[in-house]
Amino acid sequence: MSKYQIAVVVGSLRKDSFNRKLANAIVKLAPPEFSFKQVQINDLPLYNQDDDANQAESVKRLKNEIKSAQGILFVTPEYNRSIPGVLKNAIDNASRPYGQNAWAGKPAGVIGISIGVIGTAIAQQHLRNVLAFLNIPTLGQPEIFIQAKDGLFDESGNIGADSKQFLQNWMDKYVAWVKKHAA
Ligand SMILES: Cc1cc2nc3c(=O)[nH]c(=O)nc-3n(C[C@H](O)[C@H](O)[C@H](O)COP(=O)(O)O)c2cc1C
Repeated sequence: MSKYQIAVVVGSLRKDSFNRKLANAIVKLAPPEFSFKQVQINDLPLYNQDDDANQAESVKRLKNEIKSAQGILFVTPEYNRSIPGVLKNAIDNASRPYGQNAWAGKPAGVIGISIGVIGTAIAQQHLRNVLAFLNIPTLGQPEIFIQAKDGLFDESGNIGADSKQFLQNWMDKYVAWVKKHAA
């Protein structure tokens, strides 16, 4: 088993999601001591505080996956200049009941891709606010805001040659961040 297991949270449910493609491609740039698993968020209930004492199995599963991971990787689209509701719903579900926030202390990175020119910049900033409140130490720099363009991924789903160094640099910094902050 890899020393560092990373829970990857992709904020899009879309079959051909660019963000899922980005998640699948960037993890190939990590060293062998890191392994990555995308967590399922499409079967979570809409968060309802009345359910705190009796959380759904899907919520318990997500919380266990987060708690057993050494780090988190958020890969988010931008919806209407913020994060998608499905991502916020997953974050809220795993943050409760009060005092049992599964995210607390887990080192995290935030990346994203959109079709717009500012490439999820505003969504990422909104997400950082939420993560700060949840006591998630989040890599500040480098930031990456990616606009979906031809050639970003090659035919095998790897990062294309033009963007590889840029994303490798981000991954190297993320790896160092997780190693520094993992419990
Ligand atoms: C409801 C909705 C709102 C959107 N708002 C934005 C936005 O604020 N900024 C942006 O760059 N793209 C926006 N887009 C376009 C997304 O960048 C595009 O749909 C992208 O493919 C979503 O990510 P995905 O491919 O991972 O699903 C929006 C798309 C949807 C469906």
